[in-house]
Amino acid sequence: MTAKEIKQLKELREILLNGDLTRDYWSPERLRLYHVTLGERIGWKWDSVLRELEALGVQWPRHVIDWGCGSGVASVRVTRAVGGPISHQAFDRNPLCEAMTRENLRAAATNVTFETGALKWDGALVVLSHVISELTPVALQSLVKDLKRTAMVIWVEPGEKRSSERLLGVREELRGHFSVVAPCTHQKACPLAGQSSAWCHQFAEVPSIAFQDRAWSEWAKWLGIDLRSLPVSYLVLGAEGGASGARVIGRPRLRGGHALVTSCGAEGLKLDTVTKADKPVFQALKENPFRLILK
Ligand SMILES: C[S@@+](CC[C@H](N)C(=O)[O-])C[C@H]1O[C@@H](n2cnc3c(N)ncnc32)[C@H](O)[C@@H]1O
Repeated sequence: MTAKEIKQLKELREILLNGDLTRDYWSPERLRLYHVTLGERIGWKWDSVLRELEALGVQWPRHVIDWGCGSGVASVRVTRAVGGPISHQAFDRNPLCEAMTRENLRAAATNVTFETGALKWDGALVVLSHVISELTPVALQSLVKDLKRTAMVIWVEPGEKRSSERLLGVREELRGHFSVVAPCTHQKACPLAGQSSAWCHQFAEVPSIAFQDRAWSEWAKWLGIDLRSLPVSYLVLGAEGGASGARVIGRPRLRGGHALVTSCGAEGLKLDTVTKADKPVFQALKENPFRLILK
């Protein structure tokens, strides 16, 4: 990566973290750089979420809308998981993003027919990714109204508290219209609502390329990103419920021979101690508890 590209990436990251996100910030060069760096890292979060949904055996709708598509990271991951043929609509306030999303889908050789024009919400699978912090309350409200017409929603956000809380608000508004498929293991009100120090987030799996490819460690160092940690908050709504049990929240605290784990299920939030004697669970907690459900 050239010095100029690093500078551009740093500028973009600064906007994404601290800028006025109600205004457009893309240029063709920024979007291209984003797609192969920050965007690809977001793709890893999608891979973890989609693996979980595949394990749950969800039925995929055949029309996909990527709302706030950016460079199309979510579209590429989801269309691969769904398999063709599907119809697809890219939507973004910047038309450059819609064009690049279609280009990236074509390059990924997915079996997709592209549609333009008014969004076909009815019966659609709507994917949303890292967009909630850019929406005003009014824009979010209007979007939630449209989502009520769809068949399935997969929404992935960065895993920080504010985005997670807004996503929780979406869950509470939509759970009467859909079943909550994941990460929740129940359909009741979210027990994390109003919590001051806890919020719904997990840590997605990081692929080995992140540690094997020098280019990854270099740009991550320049941007101050710790590639080992991939926090994510997500919400999947659909026709049928998901797993039962209690989902691990946040990062387990490992203390020598045992781990302290916060989990969330139909009975609310729980703090458990898992000892080394429970080998498979302890091992999963140590390695990556993203898909771990405690019984
Ligand atoms: C951080 S980017 C994420 C892009 C992509 N979803 C991803 O995960 O890589 C947020 C995207 O949302 C778009 N966006 C923000 N507010 C929007 C709105 N009100 N309507 C449509 N798109 C919007 C931005 O233009 C930008 O492409």
